Amino acid sequence: MASVIIAGVGSYAPARVLTNRELAMTVDTSDEWIFSRSGIRERRIAADDEACSDLALKAATTALADAKMSAAEIDLLIVATTSPDQPLPSTACIVQHKLGVPAHATCFDIAAACSGFLYALEIAYGQLLTNRYKRALIIGAEKLSSVTDWNDRTTCVLFGDAAGAAVLTKVAQPDIGILGSDLGADGKFADNLYIPAGGSRRPTSTKSVAERGHFIRMNGREVFKSAVRVMETVAREMMEQHHLTPDQISLMIPHQANIRIIESLASSLNMPMEKVYVNLDRYGNTSSASIPLALDEARRSGRIKPGDLTLLVAFGAGLTYGATLIRW
Ligand code: COA
Repeated sequence: MASVIIAGVGSYAPARVLTNRELAMTVDTSDEWIFSRSGIRERRIAADDEACSDLALKAATTALADAKMSAAEIDLLIVATTSPDQPLPSTACIVQHKLGVPAHATCFDIAAACSGFLYALEIAYGQLLTNRYKRALIIGAEKLSSVTDWNDRTTCVLFGDAAGAAVLTKVAQPDIGILGSDLGADGKFADNLYIPAGGSRRPTSTKSVAERGHFIRMNGREVFKSAVRVMETVAREMMEQHHLTPDQISLMIPHQANIRIIESLASSLNMPMEKVYVNLDRYGNTSSASIPLALDEARRSGRIKPGDLTLLVAFGAGLTYGATLIRW
């Protein structure tokens, strides 16, 4: 019996810290409002000359070092992002070239918003298990500051820039690594979180720019309700499928969007907050980077030990969602 394991994890957050107090100088908000409604104190903002692939590259380099592998050994590279360098080509191809991943590797982007890292994990898991590939590098990377409307106080207080990465490989050992994933999507909620223009429905035009159509739009209350519902359902199903109770989970790493969503999830699962990883106070919502960034921090700070069970739970625009169970 073989398993697919996470052999290395890495992350990167840009140096520039944007605090709530600084934001309150440009939009009508306050540190108190942002922190009490979302749990966010500050977020990182990439430099003007830092694109999504630059963030991805730094996270990937640390993940490869953690796995003690070289880029030359990677034959599958997936980047999950909603803020790619440009519409064409994929950010994965740009990262491949900068990192030195060989030309025979398969490289592509996926668009599953904040659930993107779990979607990438599931694709790579399946491909490695069937022996189609040997070593996969999966990255969640976002420069959300480039698609954030800095005049819209209902969204600009929430998002930040970062990247996280993981190296996956197959080992001849049962019941370790990725034990299972459960992913889903419900497109009827697509209009709750979206970027209206810049695609084939509303191509870029003077009008689309004037209407600020290239920035994130969100119905926060609806997203909140859906998030709590789908995360609870998918996390519960994942544990039931593996005959586990919440007390057997050592650490839950939820998508870092809002502390109230996370607390509601933990409470409905009867999981104490001490077993839930939270870093959104320092990074805000970094979409597909959120889970691998938290996973990397958790591992490096000793929150994950050999034998531990970790439950990753995500939701995002789409509406996409998912849960992944890992034994270390
Ligand atoms: N500063 C101050 N006031 C603000 C504000 C801000 N940054 N943003 C909104 N407000 C105001 C609203 O205009 C509203 O005022 P009104 O009552 O006079 O109309 C009031 O605060 C309450 O707004 P509401 O939207 O009901 O707040 P909320 O408690 O739902 O919190 C969110 C708003 C966005 C923090 C919350 O809905 C949320 O986090 N939703 C999920 C978003 C998410 O996770 N998105 C990413 C998904 S991957």
